Amino acid sequence: MFKLRKAEPRDVPDILRLIKELAKYEEMEDRVMLTEKDLLEDGFGEHPFYQCILAEWQEEQSNEEPKVIGFAMYYFTYDPWTGKLLYLEDFFVVEEFRGKGIGSEILKLLSHLAMKTRCGSMHFIVAEDNRSSIEFYKRRGAEDLSKEEGWRLFRFDKDSILKMAAPAEE
Ligand code: ACO
Repeated sequence: MFKLRKAEPRDVPDILRLIKELAKYEEMEDRVMLTEKDLLEDGFGEHPFYQCILAEWQEEQSNEEPKVIGFAMYYFTYDPWTGKLLYLEDFFVVEEFRGKGIGSEILKLLSHLAMKTRCGSMHFIVAEDNRSSIEFYKRRGAEDLSKEEGWRLFRFDKDSILKMAAPAEE
């Protein structure tokens, strides 16, 4: 029925499709600037910036190619207090395939990867109004750090970076 596997370069069109579907679900589709070329260079070059687990669906007794119906994009990063951590960036299963245990299996696989690489934790951000997803994570033991520890999420956009990087005026 469904199978999980690591993404390969040929999967870039499906990865971009699912990134856009998740952004649409979050009502921020117009914010996706990435192209297939970016994803290919950034995920499959000498130093991959991200990795993906894909969920493929194969109809029983069908000769059709399996279709990619879910994904998790993640990477490894570092916490100066606890060390290695797995950062879950994007997580999405196409609506008609939800509730079949695919998301839980993806989290299980990511947890195995985290244990194998001795990560101390798995971090992720969820939009405040994505209640069903928040409850999904909480049922699996996730802590809400904004609420419990008061962390706030910040960003320097490209303009700010350019400004800071500019040579100081004489
Ligand atoms: N749709 C969703 N959930 C359902 C449905 C349904 N039609 N039917 C039942 N459920 C329940 C299940 O019983 C299960 O409950 P449980 O938590 O008590 O086990 C849970 O909802 C779904 O579990 P799974 O089937 O294992 O997970 P699923 O394959 O549905 O994937 C996911 C979970 C990825 C969160 C999916 O619901 C989804 O894509 N949601 C929309 C996008 C989203 O919010 N993504 C996360 C954003 S945050 C981030 O990316 C870091």
